[in-house]
Amino acid sequence: MGHVLLQIHNITWIVMAVLFLISLIAYRQKAWSMVLRLTYVVMLVTGIWMLIRTHFPIVYDIKGILALLLIGLMEMALGRRQKQKSAALSLLFVVIDLILILLIGYKII
Ligand code: HEM
Repeated sequence: MGHVLLQIHNITWIVMAVLFLISLIAYRQKAWSMVLRLTYVVMLVTGIWMLIRTHFPIVYDIKGILALLLIGLMEMALGRRQKQKSAALSLLFVVIDLILILLIGYKII
């Protein structure tokens, strides 16, 4: 079961990143950001499930919080894009946060 969760988690974050980029570019088409939000749910469900199975290791607790922040930052960037405002700063934080999450996820830090 753990392996299946990890596989789903591992594939979905890549789908999430691609959908985020498409949603930024095609920000007038709401369908993309709707599907993007579905990937948030899959990441949260598989992530929390793995946290429970691994008894909430502190490093992954922190990663979970960084992931919630990432979802907020991505929504902020999309919101600014839809209002035709610059999303540069929130995009910078999205990239920094995602790199941190991946470094923890792949056990590099
Ligand atoms: C939404 C952004 C997220 C990204 C980009 C992300 C990315 C990753 C990556 C790349 C891995 C390593 C996969 C592997 O070793 O093959 C991982 C593992 C993990 N993630 Fe996430 N994750 C996210 C959200 C979450 C959330 C919200 C939680 C918990 C609330 C979470 C909990 C975990 C746990 C517990 C593992 C480790 C599983 C293990 O090695 O046994 N993740 N994540």
